[in-house]
Amino acid sequence: MRVLSGGFQGISRCAAQLRAGELVAIPTETVYGLAAVAFDSAAVAKVFAAKERPSFDPLIVHIPQGWGFLKKLDELKITDSSLLSEQARDSAEKLMKRFWPGPLTLVLPRGNKIPDLVTSGLTTVAVRMPRHTLAQDLLKALQLPLAAPSANRFGHISPTTSTAVMRELGDRVPYVLEGGPCEVGLESTIVHIAPDASATLLRPGGLPREEIESILGRALLLPQGGQKSTAELAPGMLASHYAPRKPLTLFDRSSLPEFSGRDGILWLTPPVEVYPAPVQHMLSDSGDPREMARNLFSTLRLMDEDAGISRLYAERPSQTDGLWAAIADRLKRASAPKTLEPVKR
Ligand code: TXA
Ligand code: MG
Repeated sequence: MRVLSGGFQGISRCAAQLRAGELVAIPTETVYGLAAVAFDSAAVAKVFAAKERPSFDPLIVHIPQGWGFLKKLDELKITDSSLLSEQARDSAEKLMKRFWPGPLTLVLPRGNKIPDLVTSGLTTVAVRMPRHTLAQDLLKALQLPLAAPSANRFGHISPTTSTAVMRELGDRVPYVLEGGPCEVGLESTIVHIAPDASATLLRPGGLPREEIESILGRALLLPQGGQKSTAELAPGMLASHYAPRKPLTLFDRSSLPEFSGRDGILWLTPPVEVYPAPVQHMLSDSGDPREMARNLFSTLRLMDEDAGISRLYAERPSQTDGLWAAIADRLKRASAPKTLEPVKR
C-alpha cells in the first residue's frame, strides 16, 4: 500500500484510481474509509472482498459538499424522495442543512443508480457528507459518490490513522490518502427516515442523538424487533464488532476484577488509586468524552498489538448521554463473544 499525501497531485492520483475502478483508503473526520465509486458495482465488489465483509452488510455512500439536498440526490438517482411524505422530506432536509458536512448518516429511499451490492438489496441507501478536508477535496474532484465502509477487516477495530489502515489492509489496497489522525475517532451516527417521517437511531456515533432530536423536535425511535427486524433495519449492527484479537472484558470501577501480570487495562479517566498491572492506558485526563472517543480505537489497537499483554480489560462507561452512548456501544461490541448474531438491545 502506498501512502499519498493531499494536495493536487495526491488527490488527482486518487481520483484517477477510483475512476479506473480501483480502491483507495481515505480519511474522514470519523474513521478511515475504504472507498470505491458507488455507481461502479465491480469496484464495490472489491471493497467487500478486501474487507472480507459479508454481502448482507450494506455500505454508506459519501457525497461532496453541495449535494446536501433531496432534489440533487434524487436528480443523481442516489435517493428517491418521492417515496417520502412531505414531513419526512422536511425532517431529512433539516438534518442535512444543520449537520452536513459531519458525522451523520441518513438512511433514505434508494435511487436506481445505486447498485444492489451497495445496499445489500435493501430499498434504502445510507448517505453521508464527510467533513474531512481531504475527503471533500477528493469528492469534489471526482464529482461522483463514494461507497466507503470503515477501512478495517470485517469485525475488527476501525482505523483512525493511515498506519492502522496499513495494518488492516496493507497487502490488499493500492493506496491510502494521508489525512492525519481522525478528529472524531468513532463512526457516524446513523438515522433512518421512514416515509411517515418517523426517525430511528440505527447506530449511535459521532453526533449525539440529543442534538439530532433538538433539530427534529421529537425523540428518535430505537429499532424494534417484530415485523421489521433489527437485522433488516441495520444489517451491520452485529453484537460482535470493532473487536481486538485478544479477549476484552469490561469492568466497573465499583467492582474491580483481580488484574494479573499480563493484563492490559484501559481506563476512561485516571484511576483514583494505583493498580499493579504492567500496562495501563487512559483515554482522557480531563474526562472529556470527545477526547475519549478520539482515542478509543487507536488505544485499543495499541494494546491489541502490544506483545506484553495477553488479556484486555476496559472500564465500562457509567453515563449514557451525548457521546457516551457511542463509546459504550463500541466497547460493548468490542467485548462481545465473536459471532454473527445481531445485537440484543
Ligand atoms: O463514519 C462512518 O460512517 C464511516 C466512515 C468511513 O464514513 N463508515 C462506516 O461504514 O462506519 P461501515 O460500513 O463500517 O458501517 C456502515 C453501517 C453498517 O452497519 C451498515 O449495516 C449500515 O451502515 N448501513 C448501510 N446502509 C444501510 C441501509 N440502507 N440501511 C441500514 N443500515 C445501513
Ligand atoms: Mg465498520
